[in-house]
Amino acid sequence: MTYKRTEITPAQIENQLSVCQSLNRRLASRRAFVDTFGCQQNESDSELLRGYFAEMGCTLTQNEAEADIIVLNTCAVREHAEQRVFGNLGGFTHLKRANPELIVCVCGCMAAQKRIAEKIKKSYSLVNLVFGPDELWRFPELLQETIDGGKRVFATGSGEGSLVEGLPRVREAGVRAWLSIMYGCNNFCSYCIVPYTRGRERSRRAEDVVAEARGLIESGYKDLTLLGQNVNSYGKDLSDGISFAQLIREINAIPGDFVIRFMTSHPKDATEELFSAMADCSKCENHLHLPLQAGSDEILRRMNRGYTAKEYLALAARARSFIPELVLTTDIIVGFPGESEKDFAATLEVVEKARFDAMFTFIYSKRAGTPAATLPDPYTRAEKQAHFDRLIELQNQISAEKHAAYVGKTLRVLIDGFDREEGFLTARTRGGRLVRLPGTAADVGKFAQVTIDGSNTWALKGQIIDNR
Ligand code: SAH
Ligand code: SF4
Ligand code: F3S
Repeated sequence: MTYKRTEITPAQIENQLSVCQSLNRRLASRRAFVDTFGCQQNESDSELLRGYFAEMGCTLTQNEAEADIIVLNTCAVREHAEQRVFGNLGGFTHLKRANPELIVCVCGCMAAQKRIAEKIKKSYSLVNLVFGPDELWRFPELLQETIDGGKRVFATGSGEGSLVEGLPRVREAGVRAWLSIMYGCNNFCSYCIVPYTRGRERSRRAEDVVAEARGLIESGYKDLTLLGQNVNSYGKDLSDGISFAQLIREINAIPGDFVIRFMTSHPKDATEELFSAMADCSKCENHLHLPLQAGSDEILRRMNRGYTAKEYLALAARARSFIPELVLTTDIIVGFPGESEKDFAATLEVVEKARFDAMFTFIYSKRAGTPAATLPDPYTRAEKQAHFDRLIELQNQISAEKHAAYVGKTLRVLIDGFDREEGFLTARTRGGRLVRLPGTAADVGKFAQVTIDGSNTWALKGQIIDNR
């Protein structure tokens, strides 16, 4: 598929907004439910869908049973994510029976795949509209076509890598805001579906990103998470582009008390320029999420990751030499096709050496259309599960030790929300570690000095000593 960067013009957006106006007369007071699966990029896209619904005069609901329009914003990264969506769709049959006017839409990464679109066409007749991430900007027009045309609409896989500025957006109120800086991925890791669902890398212009960051800070957000599949290649596709490190410096220069977070960094593109910007910028988090994926060089090569275990460890050490307090987290895939006992032992060895603060661990999931899907995969699910359990056990022990080392320290944290436990709040350290602490609603959104007095494998516990 040839992919191109297609900048959607302000006139095209105007057009969509006028479609919203005309739908407004018919949809006002209807209820819309947007359900999000997958990563923060999808969370961010769902805010745009909600923005369009607001323009159409719809009320947003969290309850699918009372909705007139349901949108499932889906993820294709692992089979489990897809199964959940199909499970949900199956469950909508009774909703459609109760409300034949119900409109069901499927968008996101699953919808970008022809295979999935065909399956929905054939087996899920209750779905009215399917559209891929590149078509999201013209959701109003597609919805109008669905309503007026009286037939099912499939707008998937146009192959146009769209780049859009200025769409309406309904953000979650609170402390944290998502800020997409780029879309797509060029890396083609052999197991991964994302380059096929999100297209090639395209970066937003720095002035647009910085203006949006400024607006967010002015409206009270305190925690900006810069999003991209590989933020380290930000700007490479722009002729006059600045680097990711320079972008951090520009956002850091915006007046105000706030935190800059970002994800995800690909090890092959993480540079000293980035580490030095992180060290210099007082508002930038001390956290690097640097997915390792595997510790065996042969598996890394077959994954097409572009680094060896030794290079990864050297990079981690380099980052720590710039930022001594660095919190380092990672992703690991267990059971990549052909990963032997010896390969897995290499992963354990790197994990022991790297001493990650936290880890996301996944069992390899075969994705149709990716190169790894054609590799021989002789190991059983039970063998993979046993490796998965051993890896988690090792990491839990390291995380517990790392977290225990915080006890007794006083740190500045940002209090960002309510914990599930009554009377407790959640906060994040500068390195992004979760702190649970007693407090009241008035504390949320504030920076505070806290003393850490407890820890476990996944969080810290603390007490506010000063609200500053
Ligand atoms: N762009 C990000 C990753 C996005 S997907 C990056 O490269 O870091 C998030 C994580 O899902 C990946 O880091 C990987 O560990 C996991 N993942 C991706 N494809 C997978 C697959 N087919 N099976 C299992 N895990 C997968
Ligand atoms: Fe997938 Fe690799 Fe791109 Fe991450 S960098 S989205 S794992 S292809
Ligand atoms: Fe999933 Fe797409 Fe994100 S596949 S992880 S929603 S980019």
